[in-house]
Amino acid sequence: MSPLAGRVALVTGAARGMGLAHARALADLGCRVIMVDRDEPETEVPGAVVALTDITAVEAPDELLRIAQNECGRLDILVHNAGLMHDWRTLDATAPSDLDRYLAVNVTAPYALTRAAAPLLRRSPYGRVVFISSQWGQVPDGHSYGYMISKAAQLGLMKALAAELVTDGVLVNAITPGAIHTRMVQDEKYDEEVAAVPLGRLGRPDEIASIVAFLASDASSFITGQVIAANGGALVVGI
Ligand SMILES: NC(=O)c1ccc[n+]([C@@H]2O[C@H](COP(=O)([O-])OP(=O)(O)OC[C@H]3O[C@@H](n4cnc5c(N)ncnc54)[C@H](O)[C@@H]3O)[C@@H](O)[C@H]2O)c1
Repeated sequence: MSPLAGRVALVTGAARGMGLAHARALADLGCRVIMVDRDEPETEVPGAVVALTDITAVEAPDELLRIAQNECGRLDILVHNAGLMHDWRTLDATAPSDLDRYLAVNVTAPYALTRAAAPLLRRSPYGRVVFISSQWGQVPDGHSYGYMISKAAQLGLMKALAAELVTDGVLVNAITPGAIHTRMVQDEKYDEEVAAVPLGRLGRPDEIASIVAFLASDASSFITGQVIAANGGALVVGI
């Protein structure tokens, strides 16, 4: 039998890139997946429910939880993956209000969605929350204040949720990818990004999805409040 058969996972930003890879990996393990995105998925995932939703909309958490409850009857795994591209601007070029859209997608929306999902996650014997943060949440990137601050804030939110939800057996962790080959790594930045990775190549979405699958599985049953870095060696050489 598939190891996660009968469990339901909701993945945000699942239309393409890493989110699509997480959805596929979880479906391969037997999960019913709810794929949330503003856009239609680039490819189908077997058995998945597609929710075309902007996660920053005020009504999004209730709408998504209604889908989980009505169409799947439960929710076990929540993957906060949706995100926005860097805007490559310095301090002088960044107005305080430029931070808002990053904080909305990376912090407020995952907070609101986890809050709405908490009753179902607490009811699950397998409750899991996984944040896709970034290596730029661990070290400064000098490119994008909104991106960097909101990705660091995700790690704080992850730890706060882990501390509160652990009493109900819900495990909350984060992954901090380095440069991964998706649309977020723009073509004109490709060579520069590859040059910065000691392993000599960009990561693949499935290399992050396999960590999501591990954190969603019973194999991670004693891990919570942790950050798993996957960056091809970038942080070990101080990039
Ligand atoms: N690609 C990288 O090098 C890299 C590195 C570290 C972290 N990350 C993070 O990984 C996650 C996935 O990134 P990716 O590279 O696959 O990017 P991507 O641009 O390919 O995919 C992001 C997805 O999120 C969706 N999305 C954005 N805002 C949304 C909203 N308000 N509501 C619903 N959906 C929304 C987009 O439509 C898109 O499908 C992001 O959080 C990103 O910050 C990416």
